[in-house]
Amino acid sequence: MVELALPKNSRVTVGKTWPKPAGATNLRTFKIYRFDPDSGENPRVDTYFVDLDTCGPMVLDALIKIKNEIDPTLTFRRSCREGICGSCAMNIGGINTLACIYGLDEVKGDIAIYPLPHMPVVKDLIPDLTHFYAQHASIMPWLETKTNRPATEWRQSIEDRKKLDGLYECVMCASCSTACPSYWWNGDRYLGPAALLHAYRWIIDSRDEATGERLDQLEDPFKLYRCHTIMNCTKTCPKGLNPAKSIAEIKKMMVERRV
Ligand code: SF4
Ligand code: FES
Repeated sequence: MVELALPKNSRVTVGKTWPKPAGATNLRTFKIYRFDPDSGENPRVDTYFVDLDTCGPMVLDALIKIKNEIDPTLTFRRSCREGICGSCAMNIGGINTLACIYGLDEVKGDIAIYPLPHMPVVKDLIPDLTHFYAQHASIMPWLETKTNRPATEWRQSIEDRKKLDGLYECVMCASCSTACPSYWWNGDRYLGPAALLHAYRWIIDSRDEATGERLDQLEDPFKLYRCHTIMNCTKTCPKGLNPAKSIAEIKKMMVERRV
């Protein structure tokens, strides 16, 4: 029996320990957060054992195996299984990341899996991202133009297109924002690293004609300036992006337009 140490005042309880698969010799232990808000029960952590000899190499492979073969009630989001849709973000071994591109061998010992931190939980590993998506929508994540639409397409030079590299790859997984202490405490008014990375992506798009309006919208004590350069966002981004740099660039533009 693997014992689970929980803080004394934690509402999370020790849950069920599921049986080990018969005959398996290469077992890995998973401790997975379970919570159904409709049940009225406290959250718990269930323990599962997975036979690695019959499991794929990624954390998502193990979760799918648990759901298919051990406990069909375990609930999580996933779609593409290749780091593109952003839906399988969760906290694995203390790190916010994408389960489908995070190898089982990247975690030492028992593998603890929790939903993204400081978000309301819909069920088990699924956070409620309604507010996160509303914040993304608030930065106008589309091309804003005032001149007449060109006959064929909005042209962009190769150099200007390159400025979008490191930004357009964001899959809106929310790993960065939910790793940010400023977002934990002020997420109602601070936009957070993901929305601000997207804001910057449109601010520096050479085809966009609403740069001033975009900067005006961010000139606010909370929306932008609650970033204290803690850098958790950049450290955790599973796509290797740098939201902290985007935020710093927006702050620099704010200063430059004042002088
Ligand atoms: S910047 Fe990285 S961590 Fe943040 S939402 Fe985009 S892909 Fe996810
Ligand atoms: S399932 Fe799409 S990013 Fe993981």
